Amino acid sequence: MSEKRLFSGIQPSGPIHLGNYLGAIKQWVEYQHDWDAYFSVVDLHALVARPGVKDLRERTLDTLAMLIAIGIDPKSATLFVQSDVPAHSELAWIMNCFTSIGQLSRMTQYKEKSETQGETAGLFNYPVLQAADIALYNAEVVPVGDDQLQHLELAREIVRSLNSYAGKEILVEPKPLLNKSSRIMALNNPEKKMSKSVSGSAIGLLDSEDEVARVIKRAVTDSDPNSSTPSGALKNLFTILESVSDVQTIAKFEEMRVGGHLRYSELKEQLIDDVVAFLRPIQQTYKTLRADTGALNEIRLQGAKKAEVVASDTLQKVKSALGLN
Ligand code: TYM
Repeated sequence: MSEKRLFSGIQPSGPIHLGNYLGAIKQWVEYQHDWDAYFSVVDLHALVARPGVKDLRERTLDTLAMLIAIGIDPKSATLFVQSDVPAHSELAWIMNCFTSIGQLSRMTQYKEKSETQGETAGLFNYPVLQAADIALYNAEVVPVGDDQLQHLELAREIVRSLNSYAGKEILVEPKPLLNKSSRIMALNNPEKKMSKSVSGSAIGLLDSEDEVARVIKRAVTDSDPNSSTPSGALKNLFTILESVSDVQTIAKFEEMRVGGHLRYSELKEQLIDDVVAFLRPIQQTYKTLRADTGALNEIRLQGAKKAEVVASDTLQKVKSALGLN
């Protein structure tokens, strides 16, 4: 296995959607064999929104099962639940001491989310825990969607500040890794990113055929599909098509667009068929995995054990570099 480290995380805050998949998880699956990869279901981050005790517990296992159904192989990558590895919270505290209120106040996600979730200390300090997640594994790269870029830049700043205080390069400065679908837009509003919390915005990976059809049929397409400058809405539909359809289909629709005879209705019908066909095997695998809670908990336990080894080693190094032991 390669020694190059990679880390990424996802909140168990509801069903995974196509935006999460295309923006981040698809890359996780691709990179898991060439990198020493760590993927975490970040339940401490999800607690910030106080989702309810039962929901958080269930969604954590749902998310774990879905990541495996999509293609994360727990034998290849280290797949674990954040709260199972206490070093995350401990390093987050230490990193808080190297983060200013000014830096945290500039985070756009805090500004947006505090309107609905309230101004809790947890939401304010959320990016510090995220920085700790990454730094514990000394990850060089972090495959994410572009909404996480600001958090990643802050993580780099916190690492620099801690290293400078310690007087040595104790932690690695992580870099984001983006792919070309790093920002999938909402189907009902191409100005906003696809998100699980807004109805009509996302295609969930567990959506039924009817739900997929409804969301795609209602997708906003207000401009001429054959315009020489394709709208954001059209580009978004093409990005989805390129991820779920075969090469001939993609080429056919691209030709129709260039030739000036593309019809939205035809594109949408094709998308419905291909998204449903793409989701079907994932949903079947998910159902089987999710039904066996014992096996899932065993994967969870083994993942935490593997993560713990690296995390506690890094934490010890940080503590001794800072005079904490
Ligand atoms: P979360 O749970 O909101 O999303 C998981 C991943 O999906 C990406 N994503 C998208 N990509 C493209 N288009 C979209 N519409 C879209 N919506 C979501 C996100 O960018 C993310 O990569 N704070 C993180 C979780 C986290 C984390 C970390 C990530 C905690 N610690 C350490 C990386 C490293 C979050 O809320 O992701």
